[in-house]
Amino acid sequence: MTSLAAKRIVVASVALALTGLSAPAFAAEDGSWKDGADVYAKICGYCHDTGVGPGIKGRQLPPEYTGLIVRQGLGAMPAFRSSVIDDKALQALAEYISKSPAAGAKP
Ligand code: HEC
Repeated sequence: MTSLAAKRIVVASVALALTGLSAPAFAAEDGSWKDGADVYAKICGYCHDTGVGPGIKGRQLPPEYTGLIVRQGLGAMPAFRSSVIDDKALQALAEYISKSPAAGAKP
């Protein structure tokens, strides 16, 4: 094999590898949440509306605090990475929790 042919093969396989990588592997998760209430209902409510975790609605928790706990976890609560709850959804979620009345509270 000439060295030119060898180079062509290398170039071709690198190009092929790059084509594969260019697929947006993470884009699918981004923006897949409707709003904060959607995230709460599908993830947080599972524990926080059932007594597994403490009630977090109706306490005007600062969004920064909620955001930190969601990313880091706390005790028995698992952390949620941005591949699960992206930054935008987390912001919306934290504001939603901060403004929502307590679960089961009468308006
Ligand atoms: C698997 C159950 C579980 C899920 C799901 C869960 N949590 Fe928690 N969370 C807990 C538990 C248990 C605690 C109490 C931890 C402790 O005090 O040691 C907690 C604590 C918290 C606290 C602190 C409450 C306080 O009184 O200061 C916040 C804020 C919180 N969770 C937010 C969230 C949000 C937002 C979500 C959704 C993204 C969520 N949690 C999902 C179990 C869960």
